[in-house]
Order: sequence, then C-alpha cells, then structure tokens
Amino acid sequence: MTYFAVDQAAEDESEWEQIRAQYPAQEPFLNLNNAAVSPPPVVVQEAVVDAYRFISRNPDYNMWSRLDAALPGIKRELAELIDCAPEEIALNRNSSEGLSTAIFGIPLNKGDQVLISPWDYPSVCAGWFQRQQREGIEVVNCGFDLMDSDEDIIDTYVAAMTPFTRVLQLTHMYHWNGRILPIRRLCEIARERNIITIVDGAQTFAQMQVSFRQLDCDFFVTSLHKWLGAPVGNGMLIVNKRQIEQTWPLLAPFDQPAVHIDKFDHWNLGTYNSAIQAAIAPAIEFHKTIGASRMHARLRELTRYWVGLAQDIPGFRLQTVTDTDSLGAISLFSIDSLDMRKLERDLRDNHQVHVKYRTVKHVEGLRVSPHIYMLKRDLDTFVTALRNAVEEGSRRF
Ligand SMILES: Cc1ncc(COP(=O)(O)O)c(C=O)c1O
Repeated sequence: MTYFAVDQAAEDESEWEQIRAQYPAQEPFLNLNNAAVSPPPVVVQEAVVDAYRFISRNPDYNMWSRLDAALPGIKRELAELIDCAPEEIALNRNSSEGLSTAIFGIPLNKGDQVLISPWDYPSVCAGWFQRQQREGIEVVNCGFDLMDSDEDIIDTYVAAMTPFTRVLQLTHMYHWNGRILPIRRLCEIARERNIITIVDGAQTFAQMQVSFRQLDCDFFVTSLHKWLGAPVGNGMLIVNKRQIEQTWPLLAPFDQPAVHIDKFDHWNLGTYNSAIQAAIAPAIEFHKTIGASRMHARLRELTRYWVGLAQDIPGFRLQTVTDTDSLGAISLFSIDSLDMRKLERDLRDNHQVHVKYRTVKHVEGLRVSPHIYMLKRDLDTFVTALRNAVEEGSRRF
C-alpha cells in the first residue's frame, strides 16, 4: 500500500517541477553525474553565503561560539534521520575522511585479516593496502562479480572468513553501477564471528531510507554533499557505541582522554570553515519536506524511465539490474563497439550532457545519475542526445 502511494507520487511531474524550481539551474551541461556531488538547493547555498558573511564580521567568536553552538542540534536531527544515537555521530568533511578514520583507527595486529572487494571505493582499498605494507595485516580481496546474486556474494564473503578475520569492509551501494549489497545479513554474519564491520554508505544515506540500528554495523560512513544536498565538504561518520572507546582518531584531539565520539569530529583538524557545517541544518529541513522513501521512489522511476527510452539504441548494454526495489539513481551502460571515453567526451562537448566514464576490472561504461530536481523531459533530452551521438559515433569512431 505504502509502496503504491510512494510510486504514484514519484510519477507526478508537476510536483517535481516545483522541487526543481528550488535548485540552481544546471548549466552549461545537463548534469547526469549527481552521484559524484549534488548541487545544494538554493536555500542551502544561500545559508552558506550568509553564514560566511556572519563569520567575517568576528571570525573567532562567530564561528566557534555562535555557529558551532548549533552542531549538537544538527547531530540530533541527523541521528533521527538515520536511526542512531547523536552520541554516535561525528561530523567531518566527507566519506573519504570517515573511511580513513575507520581504516586507520581500528586496532589490528600483524597477521590479522581484513576482507575487502575489488569493487570497494579505490581509496578504501588503498588505505587497507597501506596498512598491509606498514603493519603486516593481511588484506583479502573477495572476488565476486558486481552482477552476482546476493546469495553468491554472501557465500563468497563467508568462504573467505577465517579465525583471523577481524574486519569486513563493505559498500552499501557501489558507485560503479548502483548495485546494493545485502548489508544487514552480512553484518549479522560478521557479528556472529566477532568481525568488525565498516559500511561505506556514501551513496545511500538520504538517497533512500537507511537505519543504522537495523544494519547493526560498527562504522557507517557517508558524505552529506551527495544525496542530502548539504554544501560540499560535509560528511558524517557513525561509530557504534561498542567501538568508540578503542578506535583511534586520525588526529589526536585537544581533549584527553579521547574516549567520546567528539574525538572523530572535524574540529580536531584545527581551524576550518564553520559556514559549511552551518548549512547542514537547512539541507536537512529541505530533505525532510520530501523524505528519503519518496526520493528513492522518484530516483528509481527516473532511472527506469531513461533506460526504457534508450534500450533500443543499437548496441545498448545495461550493466545495472533495474527490476529490483533497491534500484536508485545510479546505473551504468555501454554501447557495443563504441569507445566509451570518446562517447563521454562527445556527449559533453557536442551535446551538453555530462555523464561519467567509469571503469573497474572488466566493467566499463558511462554512469548516469539523475537527481530529484530533474524532470522526465531532461531525460528525453539526454536519450535523444545519446541516440544522435551513437549514430554519429558509429560513423566516426
Ligand atoms: C561508494 C563511495 N565511497 C566513497 C566515496 C568518496 O566520497 P567523498 O569524495 O565525498 O569523500 C564515494 C564518492 O563518490 C563513493 O561513491
């Protein structure tokens, strides 16, 4: 019943027209790379500028005694959205910082094993390999395929677990092609074996409903400048209460002993720009007027819409499963016998469409990620451009 209501709302273009009016115009390109970083709604953009003007009048006092006084309230709001305790939330600059905090902060000994996959974010894999080189931990790369079934992926991770496995590194939604992992089940299996879990949720928080309590992972990491629409340079790290005390922060904080969540907060990095964090509050407020479930339903609808239009383009090959409720904004496609790097450039330079070339292992294609400020007519424009570019490309490339 709820699912039906949500999808009905997803299809009503006039309502989304009103939402679009609240975003900055995207120019000169039709922006289909929102998975990298989303434009904030105008109200958020203005909040940053206002806060920065306010800071400039009396920086020290206005940043740390006035603007930052709102941060506990912002944490409470975020905690409500993602279903954790405010005392488990640290605010930082982005997912990369949160991931590095967890990767370098978990105490491990030589010989301890960490499970990753080739599909995890490249800096995540690099972080673990650095620990392997420096400290002699063992990084085990689990070789499943992005298109494998949930059951096969679970079996691959379980088969790789040994009595020495200490950490399971997971990605909630892969940025390559939008595939979602069965995180809850994987975390449950890990807990039964006393294995610590890190979930890279850069692409899921605010794109869809996420409950930290239900996932029951140890670390959940996200960027607030992706689907929440906060200003660029905002991230959130959630550390389960059971892990806070023994996890090392990236930088040793002023206040010792460092036993609370604030040891992971951004302000331990030294002087930073409080205006960026001050505008998280209007982003949350804006997001709540739409809601994560409605947003997810709309993004799924937009993805299915453009794929439906494009699938008869000669050589079109989709590398994302679309007949699943977990489908969201991200999908990956390729065109047989065309060079995807050239097609990316051609779409941008000659058709004013910005999509993202992605390649990892044998997977290669163009990633398409619309946002809720987009309308179906934008996707009509995109698919017409793609059709023309492919037609011209088959003659030229
Ligand atoms: C799955 C995933 N993890 C981590 C990141 C890093 O995010 P950020 O650049 O905001 O640190 C990204 C960015 O696209 C991502 O998609």
